[in-house]
Amino acid sequence: MKTTYAAGTAGLIIILALAACQGLSTAPAVSDTVKATPSFASDIQPIFNASCTGCHGTSGGLDLTSGRSYAALVNVRANADPTKFRVAPEDATNSYLVMALENRATNGGKMPPSGSLTGNQIQNIKNWINTGAANN
Ligand code: HEC
Repeated sequence: MKTTYAAGTAGLIIILALAACQGLSTAPAVSDTVKATPSFASDIQPIFNASCTGCHGTSGGLDLTSGRSYAALVNVRANADPTKFRVAPEDATNSYLVMALENRATNGGKMPPSGSLTGNQIQNIKNWINTGAANN
């Protein structure tokens, strides 16, 4: 009887532990490792999901949600400064997206407004742009 009870308790603990792990695995994974040729879908979009879409959702002037962000960024002029593209392929320095991330925006605030992406995340965005800003 005592053994059965112990086994039952152990089983319950295992089930709870598995449930907890499953909860963790649904959290979005944002890589903080620099890649020479980052992929838009695997390396860049997760950054937007974690740090930007709370403000830049489907109803705003800049939609950074998955499936819509690419079309909103690449070769699209910035509202804040129409002389710049939000993303100019192979020219991260003059892409308004990077200017905002590096607090060099000519006519608007730093992005995100509070806090900051990590240096490695910004580097991956720049590497993605400078290697052609592919929708990959
Ligand atoms: C707390 C809300 C908030 C968050 C979080 C936020 N933004 Fe913004 N963003 C704004 C607002 C408001 C504007 C418009 C005013 C401005 O340019 O300062 C804006 C403007 C921009 C612009 C300029 C768009 C244009 O065409 O003029 C870019 C690029 C941008 N955000 C990128 C980002 C990125 C990338 C992130 C995530 C790393 C981010 N933002 C996070 C609120 C936010």
